[in-house]
Amino acid sequence: MNASSPSPAQNQASTATLYGGVANRRVTVRDLAAAKQRGEKWSMLTAYDALTAGVFDEAGTPVLLVGDSAGNCHLGYETTVPVTMDQMVMLAAAVVRGTKRAMVVADLPFGAYQESPAQAMHNAARLMKEAGVGAVKLEGGERSARAIELLVEAGVPVMAHIGLTPQSVHALGGYPVQGRGDEAAHQLLRDAKAVQQAGAFAVVLEAVPAELARQVTEQLAVPTVGIGAGPDCDAQVLVWTDFAGMTAGRVPKFVKQYADLRAVLGGAARAFAEDVRGGAFPAPEHTFH
Ligand code: KIV
Repeated sequence: MNASSPSPAQNQASTATLYGGVANRRVTVRDLAAAKQRGEKWSMLTAYDALTAGVFDEAGTPVLLVGDSAGNCHLGYETTVPVTMDQMVMLAAAVVRGTKRAMVVADLPFGAYQESPAQAMHNAARLMKEAGVGAVKLEGGERSARAIELLVEAGVPVMAHIGLTPQSVHALGGYPVQGRGDEAAHQLLRDAKAVQQAGAFAVVLEAVPAELARQVTEQLAVPTVGIGAGPDCDAQVLVWTDFAGMTAGRVPKFVKQYADLRAVLGGAARAFAEDVRGGAFPAPEHTFH
């Protein structure tokens, strides 16, 4: 075996479960294809920094998405639209550094792939070479098929994203559920088939009726990853700040909150301030002499 040959571990799709089955290398597209074959559902979380990503990696989350949701969930913008390639490269590199086992997928942000397949290739290469991600994600069905085809031909694993595509928030006039009504449902099915045909290894379905997501999932050979798309997708993704209770105010109907970190951290900050004000911190055990 020479230095560039894959190791035996890399060469095999895991036949064990994604959770705990792949411990000595990163999860690959082949592991995800094998999981669909055996009907194993899996979870994906967003991550935007090394520390949080490390927690999810240790917990066994097989795929981490450096989403451009970083725009509104990490960088303080109102939408994902302002996020730049330089920001994505920086965040994705941190997530890769903080993890050992998860497949790290990074979003191509708005304006980084719509001009031409060549532009998509240039920016996907940045994410792979400068940040070290294992795959990229981009929004759009039929309209993005040519870009997906070129990336896949060049050896870039692509996760597609159809249904509600948040980079189009201004064109959509908000974040409405997609695929309602016969024509919209047929378009969603066409989009799903177009991205699969172009070579996408998985397809995110965002904010679509559960019945339609089930139909798409049954008709595709590649895994579907649902967010607000009901229980029948092959995988489910949540934005980490939503699922952990860090988001201020209302979260979308499809979010289940698994922790209340905002309350925990706010409580800790108030207790610290109180201790400082009252002189209880620092105590002798926190003090050098
Ligand atoms: O940017 C993101 O976090 C996403 C998920 C909502 C799928 O695209």
